[in-house]
Amino acid sequence: MGSLGKDAAAAAGERVVLAVNGARHEAAGVDPSMTLLEFLRTRTPVRGPKLGCGEGGCGACVVLISKYDPATDVVTEFSASSCLTLLGSLNHCSVTTSEGIGNTRGGYHPVQQRLAGFHASQCGYCTPGMCMSIFSALVKADKTGDPAPTPGFSKLTCSEAEHAVSGNLCRCTGYRPIVDTCKSFAADVDLEDLGLNSFWKKGTDPADVGKLPEYSSGAVCTFPEFLKSEIKGQMKDAPVVNAGEDGWYHPKSIEELHTLFDSKWFDENSVKIVASNTGAGVYKDQDLYKKYIYIKGIPELSVIDRSNKGVEIGAAVSISKAIEIFSDGTPVFKKIANHLSKVASPFIRNMGTIGGNVIMAQRLPFASDIVTVLLAAGSTVTIQTASKMLSLTLEEFLEQPPCDAKTILLSIFVPDWGSDNVIFETSRAAPRPFGNAVSYVNSAFLARTSGDAASGELIIEDICLAFGAYGVDHATRARKVEEFLKGKSVSAAVILEAVQLLKDVISPSEGTTHPEYRVSLAVSFLFSFLSSLGNNLNEPANAIAPNGSCANGSEKHGTLGSDDLPVRSRQELVFSDEYQPVGKPITKAGAELQASGEAVYVDDIPAPKYCLYGAFIYSTQPHAHVKSVNFRSSLASEKVITVISAKDIPVGGKNIGSGFRMLGEEALFGDPVSEFAGQNIGIVIAETQKYAYMAAKQAVIEYSTEKLEPPILTIEDAIQLLLLHGDSDRIGHPRRG
Ligand SMILES: Cc1cc2nc3c(=O)[nH]c(=O)nc-3n(C[C@H](O)[C@H](O)[C@H](O)COP(=O)(O)OP(=O)(O)OC[C@H]3O[C@@H](n4cnc5c(N)ncnc54)[C@H](O)[C@@H]3O)c2cc1C
Ligand code: FES
Ligand code: FES
Repeated sequence: MGSLGKDAAAAAGERVVLAVNGARHEAAGVDPSMTLLEFLRTRTPVRGPKLGCGEGGCGACVVLISKYDPATDVVTEFSASSCLTLLGSLNHCSVTTSEGIGNTRGGYHPVQQRLAGFHASQCGYCTPGMCMSIFSALVKADKTGDPAPTPGFSKLTCSEAEHAVSGNLCRCTGYRPIVDTCKSFAADVDLEDLGLNSFWKKGTDPADVGKLPEYSSGAVCTFPEFLKSEIKGQMKDAPVVNAGEDGWYHPKSIEELHTLFDSKWFDENSVKIVASNTGAGVYKDQDLYKKYIYIKGIPELSVIDRSNKGVEIGAAVSISKAIEIFSDGTPVFKKIANHLSKVASPFIRNMGTIGGNVIMAQRLPFASDIVTVLLAAGSTVTIQTASKMLSLTLEEFLEQPPCDAKTILLSIFVPDWGSDNVIFETSRAAPRPFGNAVSYVNSAFLARTSGDAASGELIIEDICLAFGAYGVDHATRARKVEEFLKGKSVSAAVILEAVQLLKDVISPSEGTTHPEYRVSLAVSFLFSFLSSLGNNLNEPANAIAPNGSCANGSEKHGTLGSDDLPVRSRQELVFSDEYQPVGKPITKAGAELQASGEAVYVDDIPAPKYCLYGAFIYSTQPHAHVKSVNFRSSLASEKVITVISAKDIPVGGKNIGSGFRMLGEEALFGDPVSEFAGQNIGIVIAETQKYAYMAAKQAVIEYSTEKLEPPILTIEDAIQLLLLHGDSDRIGHPRRG
């Protein structure tokens, strides 16, 4: 660290001290790119959090993170995906996993018992993550100032229960039993609505909360006293200055950050600047980083300043916190909050920051929802470049060339539009309304209107129409349509012309999937918005929102959209004693063990000492000679210990990956010809699984198609070829296959 200035040295990372299920852990000298999941699974006995997608998209790795503020003596808790959370960001935090809330030794937690009793676990791989998402929702609900619930229930509402697991995927059980488990804790649930379970025989026994495993809030300590004392102790002592180069830096001010940027130590190719690192779930790291600068500790980035002019939100404020702030405001703010609550999943929103999202949308063609709604709401941003601080409209910021690594977004300001004569509507179309589903198209419209005294018609004074995610570099305003609509009263003819104009404006870039579908969605969003402003349309008179109150978004014309409808259904079952004991409400043996995370899967078996890890290098070309495999110069390539390929098969051995009697043998390695794209070419061996995966991505394969027939890429080609060879017997029946 010698080359760094004094301030930067003080900002360097010390060892990470954290509690895992109440036990103290110290992590010194760990790789700065180590995630919490990697740490838990390789350095502690914890195996509950599983590696599913590694991208924040499945919830198998969800844990509860708790932070303690010694100044207020308050502990805050939130769910998080441990696969994206970097260990270095967790100094003095407490982590609770499924094993930590209940286990075979200390007894299971009611969440685990109810998951088992509602038959909500089959293979059980997703269950510890489900368990922690439900537990986090309970902890959050119980901390609200709402009145105490009836005994046996929590403060959770049915609607919150339905959203609690919205980002957790399950491949086998089906969601009904899982959602029923969540709802069994909700004070406003009708227990008779819950499905088949082993607590009462549906249709025969009355549903009664007394039959459910008893729940009482606060039974699990999520932040141990020793860690509180340690934190308080460190406040009194001088801060620990670490002279070791562990590659983790957490500047405490913008000045310190600039000292780091100005030092020789800073090289933007090997240093990663992170807030919560959830962006790595959207754009996967292509190489390893040696150093990280963690910016969440910079106070300027965490401001929340509310005035009658609007709300200023620091770039490092989480999406969940922003939802909380906007929810408590005028209609435009409430609409923003509503849209933000559809972004990603609770465990991503709890971590991911507003600033991280805006920066990704500025630099990359990222399908951001947040930027679209903030753009329509007339937001401005404050950025700090290497030389100066600037205030720009969000639109200006988006249109600038991608900002460099030393440009820091400090805050975002959203003006308060009040409640009068302003109509704001946001929409998004995605594969699912909630739960990690990126938009096909999103939009946000803001109109300032006035009433014409003579005719009583509504006139559009000003309008902002923002669209995003339709295959465009970043969200944009449909200026041509805005200009056309300004000063007009909305009639059927005006809507028609506006829609025609929009079709020219919304133009998905080449290669975007389903371009016509996206354009038609954008048109339908605008049509629906303008219809709500329409004069003398064949709409009911109350379609026009009085005073701009929210006749918009998913609550158009005072009715609820399908997004907001609770997932309600009643299960009617006909029982018979004919096949006794089939039909008896019996809990699956081992389901609680799965929910607690103690069930051992292959990936949970501890690796032997000095174990090395492998990752396949996949061919990217069909039917091509593999001439050579090299590695591009990168940090990940330095981690390659060796590469195993067909050449390493000992004399007498065979290149066989799998063999099935009906299908014959399949080669382990594509050698000397890669038969299809995605065939294994070799295996990279490295010290950790992550190193192996990252290194395999660095492989550069040289191919040659000389003297080879072109690949067969369609069924039609295959049929033609078989006919050519007089092999028609091998052509399957069109329906039978
Ligand atoms: C599974 C999943 C689903 C998602 N779904 C949606 C969705 O439906 N809609 C949507 O809009 N978003 C979605 N997101 C994106 C999510 O909102 C962002 O990942 C998150 O907001 C990024 O915040 P972060 O703090 O984790 O950023 P990081 O990952 O820490 O940073 C992202 C990038 O921004 C830079 N950066 C961060 N903060 C600053 C700053 N203040 N100044 C300068 N540079 C900075 C970092 O260097 C990095 O390059 C999804 C993400 C995931 C993982
Ligand atoms: S492993 Fe899928 S969200 Fe973390
Ligand atoms: S993935 Fe949910 S039980 Fe198997």
